[in-house]
Amino acid sequence: MKIISDIQELRDHLRGQNRASFVPTMGNLHEGHLSLMRIARQHGDPVVASIFVNRLQFGPNEDFDSYPRTMQADIKKLEKEGVYILFAPTENDLYPQPQEYRVDPPEQLGDILEGKFRPGFFNGVCTVVLKLFSCVQPKVAVFGKKDYQQFMILRQMVRQFALPVEILPGETIRAEDGLALSSRNGYLSIEERTEAPNLLKALQDIRNKVIELQERNINTLTSLEQAAMKFLSERGWNPDYIAIRLQRNLAPPTNANLEANEPLVVLTAAKIGKTRLIDNLEI
Ligand code: PAF
Repeated sequence: MKIISDIQELRDHLRGQNRASFVPTMGNLHEGHLSLMRIARQHGDPVVASIFVNRLQFGPNEDFDSYPRTMQADIKKLEKEGVYILFAPTENDLYPQPQEYRVDPPEQLGDILEGKFRPGFFNGVCTVVLKLFSCVQPKVAVFGKKDYQQFMILRQMVRQFALPVEILPGETIRAEDGLALSSRNGYLSIEERTEAPNLLKALQDIRNKVIELQERNINTLTSLEQAAMKFLSERGWNPDYIAIRLQRNLAPPTNANLEANEPLVVLTAAKIGKTRLIDNLEI
């Protein structure tokens, strides 16, 4: 595997390749990331991965400084997956000048849910992903559905800018007890790690109840969301949101959407101790 930090060197290596598949990451790789590499391998050649902890997507009180950086272990994992190039730019390589041109996703998708609790997050994500796409010029890029809103925003960005890249989803990979794999799980104490699968349990309860409902309407969905917030709060969580939304645009469903049986997704973000976890389930 070639490890490249310089944009020009990356372009030289990829010149003439028009079938590259790409998996952008912030490192600290786990099975979830590796499953994305496998999807990338099925859909393109060569496979390019990137590791870059992107300052632009962290808020001032978030964990940019403490975000786990495990480059040597990550390199070994990527080599095993047959990744051809690891693009691992420094901040100076990717942002030689302050990044003043930014991609701002539309309010109705970028300022809800994660965007409401992490202002500027999706601006930072879109900006870095557009820049990484410009460096790698992949045919295909793979993103995990654990970051459901991120996946939708990036897919929409690609459509709106007519970027010649296909965005593919990777299913959420879970530990045996159901906890979605995430680099931030490493922050959990032993007690918090034992409690953490209850986040999925809250989502599963909602999904089961929505499926069983004789008649779906906004009021019943709202009371399910509230009951799940209460369940988590009583167990010591600090939930930001549990929201049942339309899969197609993450808008709150109307009664007409519910009558038409439009596909739903339930999304959550909640803090346990100092660690903020997110998860979602399609209904
Ligand atoms: O999902 C992530 O790890 C990051 O948000 C991404 C897409 C690599 C952009 O920094």
